[in-house]
Amino acid sequence: MKEFAGKVAVVTGAASGIGLELARKFVAENMNVVLADIEREPLEKAEAGLKAQGANVLALQTNVLDEQDINRLAEAAFNKYGNVHVLCNNAGVGGTSGGLPIWESPLTDFDWVFGVNFMGVLYGIRAFVPRMIANNEEGHIVNTSSMAGLLSGTSAYSVSKHSVVCLTEGLYKDFHARKTKLSASVVCPGFVNTNIVDSYRNRPKELGEPIPPSPESDQQLAIMRNLLNSGFSPSDVAQQIFDAIRDDQFWVFPAQEQILAALKERLTTILEQRNPVVPKYSQIL
Ligand SMILES: NC(=O)c1ccc[n+]([C@@H]2O[C@H](COP(=O)([O-])OP(=O)(O)OC[C@H]3O[C@@H](n4cnc5c(N)ncnc54)[C@H](O)[C@@H]3O)[C@@H](O)[C@H]2O)c1
Repeated sequence: MKEFAGKVAVVTGAASGIGLELARKFVAENMNVVLADIEREPLEKAEAGLKAQGANVLALQTNVLDEQDINRLAEAAFNKYGNVHVLCNNAGVGGTSGGLPIWESPLTDFDWVFGVNFMGVLYGIRAFVPRMIANNEEGHIVNTSSMAGLLSGTSAYSVSKHSVVCLTEGLYKDFHARKTKLSASVVCPGFVNTNIVDSYRNRPKELGEPIPPSPESDQQLAIMRNLLNSGFSPSDVAQQIFDAIRDDQFWVFPAQEQILAALKERLTTILEQRNPVVPKYSQIL
């Protein structure tokens, strides 16, 4: 996509972190922006802040775990603006398994984390893409995975993010094989200074309590908090994502050197059919 002014972007998870900065970037490019998030107050704050700058934005409280909610979001966006050109399936949550192995992690983590991180992306594609194709204008889908989606781990987070990579690569091929005017990118960040470490705030109450905190999980959380606090700024990541849409770049890796080195090691290990090495970050992915 080369032209952005006057076009329409939809961002899920737009009330915080990378999503909020994406919304700001699209507004700065004179786009109309639809903000979707499960958290009402931060969403209203984001909407008010952007409107105060004169932006044309629409904010809708949306739970990406719920297909009907995403269908309603699409309906509202197409009704108001006629078309959608950029869809960022960005909403995501970390888990609550505190680094437990898969056989000890609560299955409810899969209901929630896999539901938001993967099913939310899938629902987004199914709700928006058919109408974007029918409107026959240039457009771009951005799905947010993670470096955890390329490195191996057994958390619901890691498994969900691997699925997003797979889905998005297939989506890119389908768009181009069918000669649509759409393209796709997958974003795999390393550590970014956002509120993701406090994702628990959005865990559905009906799933009951996850595992009780332990000294190990508290320590894990503290390590993660430090890594994120010293991570990239979400506005830098938003800029990289915008550049990728403009340049039609599929892989977007806003990731630290040591994580990219671990990825290189993993890919080499796979190609040489060697057994997995235990990377430094395996416990937190
Ligand atoms: N921060 C990092 O280091 C990092 C690294 C890799 C990938 N990511 C990914 O980046 C994306 C954005 O996360 P972030 O880091 O900005 O975190 P964040 O917590 O600051 O923002 C995530 C947003 O998603 C919203 N959200 C959560 N559950 C939702 C639901 N069910 N429906 C709708 N909205 C929901 C939250 O309310 C929040 O506003 C996520 O997909 C995350 O997995 C982040």
